[in-house]
Amino acid sequence: MTDKTSITLTINGRDHAISVESRRTLADAIREECGQTGTHIGCEHGICGACTVLVDGEPVRSCLMFAQQAAGKEIRTIEGLARGDEMHPMQKAFMEHHGLQCGFCTPGFLMLAVGVLEKEPDISDDDLVDVLSSNLCRCTGYQNIIKAVRAAAIEMRQP
Ligand code: FES
Ligand code: FES
Repeated sequence: MTDKTSITLTINGRDHAISVESRRTLADAIREECGQTGTHIGCEHGICGACTVLVDGEPVRSCLMFAQQAAGKEIRTIEGLARGDEMHPMQKAFMEHHGLQCGFCTPGFLMLAVGVLEKEPDISDDDLVDVLSSNLCRCTGYQNIIKAVRAAAIEMRQP
């Protein structure tokens, strides 16, 4: 017998009433119960960062958090970055600086970078590179990812 609990996940400002087992990860719940498949799952062990989302503004590896732990918190995923037809500066910068190749790692990098820059807009360049080193890109496009995040950081600092 599997015990499920009814919870509400608030993703990008929209409530999703779902029923999950206590062991259900946030990553799986976001994708399978809430239909938001922009969050990618790579290693499922907290190593690659592909599953990064923001929970109450903090970048979180959603494969390492249980869905029930995120109930009542504000979750932001890649689907919530653009404003209508207007891309977020980080999305634009990835496009303009060729920060993606296959794109599998991209949602995780975008959410990580946006989360860090919203909290610490004046983060030093060295620290930014250090933060980005926690996510993996199998296409090894790191130079362009760093270039894109640097460009977006400047853009996001504009009043
Ligand atoms: S899938 Fe979560 S860190 Fe790799
Ligand atoms: S762009 Fe392919 S894994 Fe990063």
